[in-house]
Amino acid sequence: MSTSTRHPGDRLGALIAQGPAEPSDMPSQHRQLTVMFADLVGSTALLEEHGPEAFSDLLRIYHNLCTEATRTQDGTVANYLGDGVISYFGYPRGTEDDPLRAVQAAWTILQNLEQLNRKLAGARLAARIGIATGRVIIHQKPGDYYGENVVGACLNKAARLQTLASANTAVVCAATRKLAGKAFDFEDLGPQDLKGFEQPEVVFRLRPRRRKGLSRFEALRGERRTPLVGRDRELALLRKLMARAAGGSGGAAVLVGEPGIGKSRLIDVLRRDRAMESARFLSLQCSPAHQFSSLHPVKDYLDWVFGVNADDARDVRRDKLRRLFQSAWQTDEEQTAVLMDVVASSGPEQEANADIGILLKRRMAFQILSKKVFSTAVPGHPLLLVFEDVHWIDPTSAEFLENLVRNAADHACTVLTTTRPEGPFAGRLSALGEVVQLERLSDAQSVELAKATGLAAGMDEETLHVIVEKSDGVPLFVEEYASMLAENLGGREKAEGQKVRRDVPMTLGGLVQNKLDRLNPHAQKVARIGATVGRVFDLQLVRSLSALGRTTFDKALATLEAADIAHRGMASGSQPAAIFKHALVQDAVYGSLGTAERRRLHGLVADAMLSDKGGRRITAEVLADHLLAAGRNRESAEWRLTAAMAAAGEGSAAEALAHITRGLAATELLPAGDERDDVELRLRAIEGPTLMVTRGPGKPAFGAAQARALELLRRQNKPDNLVPVIYNTALHDWACGRLAEADRVNDEIFAILDAEPSDAAYLAAHTMRGLVAWHRGDNPAALEHLSATVARYDPALHREFYMRFLKEFGVFGRFYLGLTHTVMGKTAEGTKHAKAALELAKLVKRPHVYGFALLANFVTAMLRDDVPTASRYSEEGIEFAGRQGFPEMVAMSMICQGWAKAKRGAIDTGIHQMEEGSALWAMTGFENWQAYFASLLSDAYVAVGRLDEARALLDRHDERVARFGEAQFEPLLAKSRAVLLSAAGDLGGAAAAMQIARERAARNKAALWMG
Ligand SMILES: Nc1ncnc2c1ncn2[C@@H]1O[C@H](COP(=O)(O)OP(=O)(O)OP(=O)(O)O)[C@@H](O)[C@H]1O
Ligand SMILES: [Mg+2]
Repeated sequence: MSTSTRHPGDRLGALIAQGPAEPSDMPSQHRQLTVMFADLVGSTALLEEHGPEAFSDLLRIYHNLCTEATRTQDGTVANYLGDGVISYFGYPRGTEDDPLRAVQAAWTILQNLEQLNRKLAGARLAARIGIATGRVIIHQKPGDYYGENVVGACLNKAARLQTLASANTAVVCAATRKLAGKAFDFEDLGPQDLKGFEQPEVVFRLRPRRRKGLSRFEALRGERRTPLVGRDRELALLRKLMARAAGGSGGAAVLVGEPGIGKSRLIDVLRRDRAMESARFLSLQCSPAHQFSSLHPVKDYLDWVFGVNADDARDVRRDKLRRLFQSAWQTDEEQTAVLMDVVASSGPEQEANADIGILLKRRMAFQILSKKVFSTAVPGHPLLLVFEDVHWIDPTSAEFLENLVRNAADHACTVLTTTRPEGPFAGRLSALGEVVQLERLSDAQSVELAKATGLAAGMDEETLHVIVEKSDGVPLFVEEYASMLAENLGGREKAEGQKVRRDVPMTLGGLVQNKLDRLNPHAQKVARIGATVGRVFDLQLVRSLSALGRTTFDKALATLEAADIAHRGMASGSQPAAIFKHALVQDAVYGSLGTAERRRLHGLVADAMLSDKGGRRITAEVLADHLLAAGRNRESAEWRLTAAMAAAGEGSAAEALAHITRGLAATELLPAGDERDDVELRLRAIEGPTLMVTRGPGKPAFGAAQARALELLRRQNKPDNLVPVIYNTALHDWACGRLAEADRVNDEIFAILDAEPSDAAYLAAHTMRGLVAWHRGDNPAALEHLSATVARYDPALHREFYMRFLKEFGVFGRFYLGLTHTVMGKTAEGTKHAKAALELAKLVKRPHVYGFALLANFVTAMLRDDVPTASRYSEEGIEFAGRQGFPEMVAMSMICQGWAKAKRGAIDTGIHQMEEGSALWAMTGFENWQAYFASLLSDAYVAVGRLDEARALLDRHDERVARFGEAQFEPLLAKSRAVLLSAAGDLGGAAAAMQIARERAARNKAALWMG
């Protein structure tokens, strides 16, 4: 950390003096760079005044502020030097307005600090900023993402200029002043001596001058604005929300309306509002290409703010994010690890890794991210948080957004969402706050808008009427028709004194087509390739696909800009890009392509992405879409598979299932045969387990996926792949109460084991046999097979079987072995295995497995009547399984909780909870275990005199266990029957029921229930 006596310039000087390690080996590059050095004033005093903890908070705030200001201007934060921040503008890529953007960033920092001081109790933060522009040498060295190997006098100069600045001002060199143009006012400070520089230099101080910064989307879109027409009511409502947020009580609203109706425009207007001057603005954008990429808008934003480039390799991106979480957000080790797993893991190389308790981490990441979001919202300086186009939102982001909406009320924050009427929030818009429906413009408003475009000058009433009629109140169409008819007027027709042609196209597609047709062929080509890539398209990519020379390409692009079809800017990864004026314009251009041309272009785009190995981050989802559109169905399915695995690995089940569905659709287009079977099989292999974990093994969808996989496997005759699928098929039969069928299916695994012994087959076969035997009441057989599993299992060798079976045999085997011992009367032995299951689960760290271990502990405790232990573990079970979304585990935990409450005297509450838990259990399609729950519930009914309900329940379950052959619980049902009969005064009947209970327990060797 700097002190007020030491010169930050010296630190910088030292840094520069170290220089690059081995310059001779490295490729070097000469270029112009603008360097901004922003040092925090008086850090020693701040530290002394506020103490280390509060000071580190202040420092974090300061770093955040500088980072965001830099990134908003497409700069790169090169380094944090204690409390100072060094930013480059023009690295890794340069543009002519780097100096301007540096000055803009400095201006933003100074403004924001002033605002911040108004709300910080007591503390005053001030910066001294120096900006210098000059030639540098860049020694490119692997692993240097931030230009640590940049050498040039301007680095030193920026540091020296900074020392000349007084608190909360910026001083710039003459070159910067000159290149920054007229956008800012500067005060000439005359020639100054700069330490280390021979000649005195004329330097300039930045004068405060208001100028609104652009959001990155505005920056991308370019500015071409007509005045807003109408929307007074809507705007008033949004202003009210912002005013309330400024007062500390936040809220949320959703703007809903058809494409082109003006949702984005309304936000734009709000953002430029006078009242918004003290507000902060954060915008997250959803995209049609990433509807199933989990957390896409958040990741996209982080990449942007942290300066990740689109062509950074994956590990480079990870390094950058890690470093910036730590230094800019000051996350601790655990938080960093969580964020890294959740937001830094995108890309096809993400392994399908269920090892990390990912669901839990997801929620922790949500917490960290929302805390970070809300930390910037302070009364007096509210935050406007925008989620654009959530009709394209991915399921995980949707969950995150709902979370933010729910919590907005407690913060100085307005969460504003835009959506078309379709999409995941259709029908439940109120989850996003107050619903603001945007209606079409009235005829008068359409005329007003047409005139306001400035294109309607000289149009007669009739022409205006055509515009109003054709555009039907949609502002985007008004603009487009006005522009088209204006061109007609300005062109040949007007010259010849003709009336406006009336055969104008009816649709926007036709309109855009018309516009395109008038452009030169190069511009058309660029537009068409661009539209194939997406709404935002990378210029480098499109240029290489277009095979146009640089100058021709630039001209073509300028033509598109002039025609207001697309505008250039920077995409999120600081790549030069262009964006179509509107999503509908992109659609329309795309729609103008013939089928064959479309295929060809998508194929080219896909090839370009595929050939760019290791560099640009390929999104499997995007690639799969291009391949599908190119008619390359097998490749498309393969990339869907990759996307599904990545999503499953991130714990994003909904996304994984969506990819699988699309992958399967692509395989259906393939000719029948081994190749198709193979792809489908690999998709099914993820589908089945994902369904099992998220919906439970009893659900028909899971069964169907297994059955199909089995069918395919039998055709292929590959025993090794066969075992997990057979196992899970048997598991589905077991869960549905088809115990005999489960055994029969499992016979096949024993047969494979005989033919070709393997640990996987051994563990699977014995676990399944033991599981089925236990429910059938054959405790000795259960003991034999489950003991075999537990004896053979070695975590070092077998824990990875989880990936293939979605079953941890060690934990699951101990769970059921513990139950077996307990039922056979060896309760201490049972408890031992339950505890061992928990230890093992902690070791293997998979959430579903940990859930089973909790079950093992509370079910054995219930069986031996140990209320405190059962209560403790089931409480954790409800919380844990609830958070993870494991429905059957939540159900069982609830039943146990209810049982414990009833045992402790809160019988009504207990009954209620048991009833709820049983209903939830039944909903998962799980037939087993229900008789056990019924006996517990029946005893509780009897205790409060609800004998009829108890009787009905027992009757029903007597019938069910007979039907399913789940004889394990027969003794208990008979015991509960005895309890019921004795309460009803039928002592003879009770004694007879007790006798039956004993006989059945003896038959089952269930010593626990013999007494
Ligand atoms: N009330 C209005 N006054 C003036 N211009 C408007 C108005 N509403 C929309 N526009 C213009 O119409 C065009 C389309 O509007 P906008 O992009 O806001 O639509 P949108 O509802 O966000 O569509 P999408 O769902 O496709 O994102 C823009 O050029 C915008 O400036
Ligand atoms: Mg929009």
